[in-house]
Amino acid sequence: MSGFSPPFVGSIDDGTQSCRCIIFDQKGKVVTKAQKQKQQIFPQPGWCEQDPRDIIDNVRFCIEEAVKDLQRLGHSVEEVKGVGITNQRETTVIWDRKTGKPLHNAIVWLDTRNSKTCEDLANAHGGRDAFRRKCGLPISTYFSGVKLKWLFDTFPEILAKAERGEVMFGTVDSWLIYNLTGKHVTDVTNACRTMLMNLEALKWDEEVCSKFGVPMSILPEIKSSAEIYGDILDGPLKGIPVAACLGDQQSACVGHCAFNPGDSKNTYGTGCFLLMNTGEKPSFSNNGLLSTVCYQLGADAPAIYALEGSVAIAGVGVSWLRDNMKFLEHAEESEKVARSVPDTGGVYFVPAFSGLFAPYWKEGARGAILGLTQFTTSAHIVRALLEAVAFQTADVVDAIMKGIQLTRMKVDGGMTANDVLMEFQADVLGATVMRPAMREVTALGAALAAGLAVGVWKNIQELEKVQSDTCDYTFFQSKVGLGAMLTSSEFAEWPTDGHGDAED
Ligand code: G3P
Repeated sequence: MSGFSPPFVGSIDDGTQSCRCIIFDQKGKVVTKAQKQKQQIFPQPGWCEQDPRDIIDNVRFCIEEAVKDLQRLGHSVEEVKGVGITNQRETTVIWDRKTGKPLHNAIVWLDTRNSKTCEDLANAHGGRDAFRRKCGLPISTYFSGVKLKWLFDTFPEILAKAERGEVMFGTVDSWLIYNLTGKHVTDVTNACRTMLMNLEALKWDEEVCSKFGVPMSILPEIKSSAEIYGDILDGPLKGIPVAACLGDQQSACVGHCAFNPGDSKNTYGTGCFLLMNTGEKPSFSNNGLLSTVCYQLGADAPAIYALEGSVAIAGVGVSWLRDNMKFLEHAEESEKVARSVPDTGGVYFVPAFSGLFAPYWKEGARGAILGLTQFTTSAHIVRALLEAVAFQTADVVDAIMKGIQLTRMKVDGGMTANDVLMEFQADVLGATVMRPAMREVTALGAALAAGLAVGVWKNIQELEKVQSDTCDYTFFQSKVGLGAMLTSSEFAEWPTDGHGDAED
């Protein structure tokens, strides 16, 4: 016997750098897991693409491996009651409505080729914040709508095809669900990252679409984050419903059960993303934070919103030190190498490879390593990169907290395995950093949402029980000891009257 009891729920987590399929049991324990690294394509400086066919092939590969392992453990596919999808957000895919074939490589969220498009949009419509009240986002290279505009401006033949109704657009969730179930849908957490969705109406915004020159016929139907979108058409999970869909950062919020206003989490993946639940109405930031949908757990459930501080470069900085600089053989070595020196020897690393995101939004910024001397070794530079990730998080915490001292911060993501980073993060924030033993919090979030949709769990209280049984936390205390995370009780003090960060 495997030691695991059905029912099970699957989760497909398609991140920027790797894809995984994880099958969880009803207690939230990982039953099987398959993972595959993804190929990145860098055609020019600042450009970053992925082949959409690779994206779906990798997902199919991970599903096959995870299901094979499940069967090896003596279980059957019918014991998997539903599958949740969570994904790198904003990455833009367009394909032919008739053939389903991609019309261009996926343009990854990190890609900055559309900076001139941003400038033109801002000049034409009254500045970078022209659409912020409608969609919660500044005009930036980051978001899918601006990537789409670049595609249409650059390839008029694709625009003509789109105007004839022959094109489909989607973020990676839509591309995956389309290939798995044949349905052209997305969820509110992904749709709100396009700039094309009205944040309060939870619908595509006609005016914004027209200003971006996006024909609305190409857009997927917007659904909640937890409902059945369709059954998987083929492969080992044939017949199993896809029952949840969340952008990966929002999924991590669900995985942490950040269900109360003031609850927050910081995920250290390719980039680094801190989200704080702000309740049933969007809050708007004066300090460079994004307003975003956090989740909507069911078609009749209210949408819950969040403020987000997005940092573009975190784990991918370590990959760069490994692949481009050859300072590391494996990413995991970064902890040992960083610990081999007591400090950075005065070196500072600004990893602005794709410009600077929150809270600065400077797309023209580029990376820099400063303070080099003859004493500097690769170890100092590795340590400086880890410190840079912590400093960037501190900038976002500053922007989000505005005058309130943070006390605790929940974290997750691959990079949190690095104790040097966790210790430094606690010191820089003067706060306790809480790392769960179960690192796959993003995948767990989509599984919890899917399980809720198909009745494996009945309500939010049952999800909270699973979460608390699964996430055993290690606490990294600040040696500096300033005190500091916004907890739900502290949220009562959080400035919502215009003096602090939120305008309403
Ligand atoms: O917005 C981009 C984000 O979704 C990427 O996530 O997990 O690849 O760092 P990740």
